[in-house]
Amino acid sequence: MFTKEIYINRRKQLASTLGSGILLFMGNEESPMNFKDNAYHFRQDSTFLYYFGINEPHLAALIDLDEDKTIVFGEEMSLDDIVWMGRQETLKEKCTASGVEYIQASTALETYLENALAQNRLVHFLPPYRGENKIRLAKVLHLPVAELAEAASLAFTKAVIAQRSIKAAEEIQEHHLAASISADIHLMVMQMAKPGQTERDLVAAIQQAAVASGGQLAYPAIVTTRGEILHNHYYGNTLKEGQLVLNDSGVETAFGYAGDLTRTFPVSKKFTAEQKDAYDIVLEAYQQAVNLLSPEVRYLDVHLKACKTLATGLKDMGLMKGNIDDAVEQGAHAMFFQCGTGHMMGLDVHDMEDLGEAYVGYTDTLTKNTSQFGLKSLRLGKQLQPGYVLTVEPGLYFIPDLMDQWGASNKFSEYINYDKLQGFRDFTGIRVEDDFLITSTGHEMLGKPLAMTTAEIEAIRAEAF
Ligand code: GLY
Ligand code: MN
Ligand code: MN
Repeated sequence: MFTKEIYINRRKQLASTLGSGILLFMGNEESPMNFKDNAYHFRQDSTFLYYFGINEPHLAALIDLDEDKTIVFGEEMSLDDIVWMGRQETLKEKCTASGVEYIQASTALETYLENALAQNRLVHFLPPYRGENKIRLAKVLHLPVAELAEAASLAFTKAVIAQRSIKAAEEIQEHHLAASISADIHLMVMQMAKPGQTERDLVAAIQQAAVASGGQLAYPAIVTTRGEILHNHYYGNTLKEGQLVLNDSGVETAFGYAGDLTRTFPVSKKFTAEQKDAYDIVLEAYQQAVNLLSPEVRYLDVHLKACKTLATGLKDMGLMKGNIDDAVEQGAHAMFFQCGTGHMMGLDVHDMEDLGEAYVGYTDTLTKNTSQFGLKSLRLGKQLQPGYVLTVEPGLYFIPDLMDQWGASNKFSEYINYDKLQGFRDFTGIRVEDDFLITSTGHEMLGKPLAMTTAEIEAIRAEAF
């Protein structure tokens, strides 16, 4: 945990923006894998972690703005708990470390909320995403589960987003740590990968290193020779000479802050000429996007710059043609780049996605408002501010099903050279990804530098054999 003053001040700042009512924070429960006592790794709710720092299940908390009182609801360990899990810090000690004076039993939460509702007091809650919390909230608020998201407090949601979006010094330090550990792991993978290994061998090493770092993976690693499958979690392929490995993996620190890095490297010592051409296009798009990262720049424009740079490179390769500005405006480049250039990061790898992309990545005046393939997957469009932490992750993805489907109707045939594209059916995908802090004058890369150019990567690969 950070110092208690940090949590006290975070809560104070939030309270000062919300006036009256009750602010409710639902911690996460254990999540059973196949029976109750065999749970997935526990992950605390990030908003709970941000305001209270207590990383354990079966807790809730509230700030009663009218009574100026903060209460944590939970239980001290029973003798059975101590027998099975060992004596740990008491809840009282954890609450003291969080600067919280009042503790009540778990079940007292329902009583507190029922009394408040009976007095027509406003209970602000965030959109729940875990089944247990949905059921609990639906019962106490007398709402159908399906209506909870709609009934969640927009004022509370927006206040949390505004606060969590701007990273404080102690959070930036955590992001540096997460990115540096992740960079070490990426370097290790580039050094160890050899033909004949499976993707699983690499994933096992990544998981081992993440746990050994004192943290864990911030999301299931994407480690694949089929890099065109954007969130590929199949690890059964064998690495073969001539293929590319796409490694998208990052750790979260013990305090919960995420790193999210991607590198793509050849299984062989060197990239093929064609792989190098495509890689350099991605790298140029990355560089052009990074150059734009500054306060007040819209990330939508960063994304469009990346798309145009990719499309220009593809035109040079003979895969696209025609007017590039028009092609990107109409979405033709999405044949090769189907997703967004980046997203906010923090205690969640896609920060605060549970609170709503419309508020995290967009604003009331800059709404996403598009169904265009590609652009609809851009998670962040709004103007950047100092303190934002985000990714830049352009890529090129050659998806045979997409080629076939668009090709069958000659979709965007004025911009896409379908004849030449046929030769790229097995090309797979390339992505590079780094994490950045927006500063008052521009941006700063998070974590230690990691091999990025084809020359840097080939130098590492040469020593792997
Ligand atoms: N690792 C998922 C992403 O890059 O967004
Ligand atoms: Mn990412
Ligand atoms: Mn990633």
